[in-house]
This record gives sequence, structure tokens and C-alpha cells, in this order.
Amino acid sequence: MSEEIAVELGARRYPIHVGAGLIAKAGALLKPIAKGPVPVVTDSHVAALHLEPLLAAMRAAGIDARQIVLEPGEATKSFGELERLCGALLDLGVDRGGLIVALGGGVIGDLVGFAAGILKRGVDFAQVPTTLLAQVDSSVGGKTAISVPQGKNLIGLFHQPRLVIADIAVLGTLPRRELLAGYAEVAKYGALGDAEFFAWLEANAARALAGDEAALTHAVAHSCRVKAAVVARDERESGERALLNLGHTFGHGLEAATGFSQRLLHGEGVAIGMVLAFRLSERLGLSPAADTARLIAHLKAVGLPTAISDVPGPRPGVDALLAHMAHDKKAKDGRIVFVLAKGLGKTFTTAEVPAESLRAVLAA
Ligand code: NAD
Ligand code: GLY
Repeated sequence: MSEEIAVELGARRYPIHVGAGLIAKAGALLKPIAKGPVPVVTDSHVAALHLEPLLAAMRAAGIDARQIVLEPGEATKSFGELERLCGALLDLGVDRGGLIVALGGGVIGDLVGFAAGILKRGVDFAQVPTTLLAQVDSSVGGKTAISVPQGKNLIGLFHQPRLVIADIAVLGTLPRRELLAGYAEVAKYGALGDAEFFAWLEANAARALAGDEAALTHAVAHSCRVKAAVVARDERESGERALLNLGHTFGHGLEAATGFSQRLLHGEGVAIGMVLAFRLSERLGLSPAADTARLIAHLKAVGLPTAISDVPGPRPGVDALLAHMAHDKKAKDGRIVFVLAKGLGKTFTTAEVPAESLRAVLAA
């Protein structure tokens, strides 16, 4: 069972395939766009688990598949690694009409997408995301980036993939904590604009997270459908795409205050951030308390953190959080842009938030 979703971007339209066992079919899916040596770039964790089946499927389809294995972890999204990767891609003989495959989580997808965007002024790439976060978020929409000491994801470009292959079977090897962190982004799609999907998740998330194929395929495919529709309408985030940042401004502040460490994964920050966004909306009289309670109950039920006090270690102070939030790259003219809610499934952006309400939510 698999689903196909299209990101409708005119001549750059591309499909997202979602289903169990798709790596075995990747050769046939990639063959029409493969030319010359096709490097599969991955990290060593993923290589040990999922690289060989992908290479075998590609070779069986007659693709000259090669491999480049990088270190796992955020530090790989750096100028140094980008330079090394571009060198390796050039050494393999990737040319302008070639194709690069990113096999991994958001770190590999972001780095490979960026390298593909600048190599020889742009070559094609395909995403084979292996984390839930990458399947529902980072592999779709064409945002690519590396990080620098000044901040995360500050150097990058938009470069859409030609194809996304989300094999939900690979999620079976993902550590539970990473799976749940990715799930925060799934819940986000319901909370930001699809109350019906949120209700479906309330009833089915446990099944999906336990690996039920049909439930997990639907959760991933529907998330991609929501994101694909938003990206098709606002590719460069001049408006609506900003709604995909629900929970991210708070989450980014928390991640920065905890040093982007294992204390708080990105998705965990997004889970707490979504709750803070709903709490703030509630405090401003915009969103009913019952919707905040529903969001908290659902995130707790799947095992995600929902409050700043859930972050292990010393509690980040309000001033430190505010300072980090002001440095978010989505801040405009020094003002923090928030995604707030008028209830579950109804969000909007605003920079008009009274400072005392914000402080109260961060201190509670
Ligand atoms: P990640 O790529 O670091 O993967 C998390 C860990 O899981 C790594 O250790 C990895 O080796 C391992 N792993 C991956 N797949 C596995 C599998 N199937 N089985 C076992 N282990 C596996 O992290 P992530 O959460 O996927 O991505 C985070 C990155 O994504 C961040 O850099 C973030 O900035 C970026 N991001 C980008 C976008 C975008 O739109 N481009 C959106 C959201 C996040
Ligand atoms: N992760 C948010 C976006 O792609 O716009």
C-alpha cells in the first residue's frame, strides 16, 4: 500500500511516494531521472541499516549507484562538510545533468540539497528520508541549509528535489525518542490548519507510532499533503508557508537556550512550542482553553513533552528565551513573528504580541 502526493510547482512539479517497502522499488522510481554515476549520500548510522538495499535496488534497475557516507549529527551541516561533500561529488564525476540521492534524516537532506543546489550551479537531487521528521517535513518543500557559529540554518537556498521516496518501513529502526520528535511535526499539521486530521490523530496516533502500516502511511502521507499544498501556494515563504512554523519560534528559543543539545530534540521543542503558542493565544482571548487542553492531552498521550518544566536540567530563564527568540531568522525588523491560533486547526501569523503576555506564558 502506498500513496503518491504531488508538489504542484509547474515545471518543477514533483511526486512524494509514501508507503512501506518503497526502497525496494526505488530503482524503478529513480531510473527515469538517473544519469551517469548517481551518488547516494547518507550518514554512517543510516548506512549500516538501509544503504545496501537502496544501492541494490538502484543497481538492479541499471543505475550506476555510488555511495558517500558522512558522520551523523548536526555538526555535519557545516561549511567544512559541504566543501568535502562537493569535492567527493565532483570526484565521482557528477555533472550538470546528473542526480544525487539523499538517504537519511534532515541533516543529510538539508546538506545534500544545498550541495546539489550549488554544484555546477545546480544539479538534480532526490530525497529518501529515513526519519519521521524528514518524511513529513524536511524532505518536502526545498529548504536546504547548513549552520554556522552565528546560528542554525543561516546559510542555504531553496532547491526543490525531483522526487521524494518516504519508505515508512525504515522508521522501524529509528530510536523511539527520534520517532516521537518527528511526530510533533505530524501533530503540527493538524493543529495549524486541519482540525479533522487532528481528530484522526487523536484516535490513531498510538497505532501509527506502534508501526501500524496503514495508520503510519496515512499520517505521513496526509502530513505531506498539507505541506505540499502550502508549498505550492507559497514556495518562498512570503506568506502562508510561515504557518508551518507553528511552535517553532518558542521551540527555537528553547533549543538555543539548551545549546541545541540532546537535552531537547527539535521536535520536542516544537511540541512544547506549540503548547506555548496555544497558551499565548488563549491568554490573548483568541483561542479556547479547551483547545489548549486537547493539544496538551494528545501530545502527552503519545509521550511528548508539553511544558518548559519538562526539559531536563536547569529551567531556561525568561530573558534568555526572549533573547534567543528575537534572534530567530524569522524575526522581521527585530520583531518576533508568532504563529498564533484561533482554535485547533485555525492559525495565523502576527508580530503584535504584548510583551507582558509573552513573559507570562514563558514564566508559567
Ligand atoms: P538527523 O538527520 O540528525 O537524524 C536523527 C538521527 O537518526 C541521526 O543520528 C541519524 O543518523 C539517525 N537516523 C536517521 N534515520 C534513521 C533510521 N531510519 N534508523 C535509525 N537511525 C536513523 O535528524 P532529523 O531530526 O531527521 O533532522 C533534523 C534536521 O532537519 C535539522 O538540521 C533541521 O534543521 C532540519 N530540518 C529541515 C527542514 C527543512 O524544511 N529543510 C525542516 C525541519 C527540520
Ligand atoms: N519546515 C518549515 C518549512 O519547510 O517551511
